[in-house]
Amino acid sequence: MSHCKIDFRTMADKRLTIDYKEFASELELEPQDQELAKAAREALKGSYSPYSKFQVGAALRLADGTIVKGANQENAAYPAGLCAERVAMFAASANYPETPFDTLAIVASDNGVPCDEPATPCGNCRQVMAEYQSKYGRPFSIILIGNSKVLKFAKVDDILPFIFDSLKV
Ligand code: THU
Repeated sequence: MSHCKIDFRTMADKRLTIDYKEFASELELEPQDQELAKAAREALKGSYSPYSKFQVGAALRLADGTIVKGANQENAAYPAGLCAERVAMFAASANYPETPFDTLAIVASDNGVPCDEPATPCGNCRQVMAEYQSKYGRPFSIILIGNSKVLKFAKVDDILPFIFDSLKV
C-alpha cells in the first residue's frame, strides 16, 4: 500500500520573527506620536462601557496629520457593541475616504484605572486594520500604550501574521 505512505521530505520547521520597538514610557516616543498618545488618552473619555467597565481609547493619525478618535461603545446586546479601534478606523474611512492611515495609537483603562500593560487589539480589529492597509495600499504603524511599557509596530502584518487579504488573492 505505498500510496498510504507519507513522505516528510518536504516538511521544514520555520520560525517567524517580528521587529518592533519597546519604550519604557510614551514620553520616549517622537513628539508627533506623543501627541497621538495624548489624543488616545483623551478618547478614553468617550468610552461607553457600562457592561465591561473597561475603557479603550484609540487615536488614528492620517497621512495629512488629521487625528480621528474612537472609544469602545457597548450595548445591552453585547455583540452590537464595537471596539475603540474600529470606531476610529470606520469614522476615518467614512469621513476622509481618500486619506491613508499613518499611525493608530491605542490605550486602555480598567474601571478608570490606566492599564500598566499595553492594550492589544482583538483579532477582529486586526483584520479591519489589514483591510485599510490594503485599501490605501500602504502600511501604517500601531502604537500600543501601557503605563509601564509602550510598543510600536511598523505595519499591521507585524501584529497579524499570515494576513488574509482578499484584495491580493
Ligand atoms: N475592546 C476594545 O475596544 N478594543 C480591543 O481591542 C479589545 C476590547 C473593548 C470591547 C469591550 O467594550 C471592552 O473592551 C471589553 O472587552
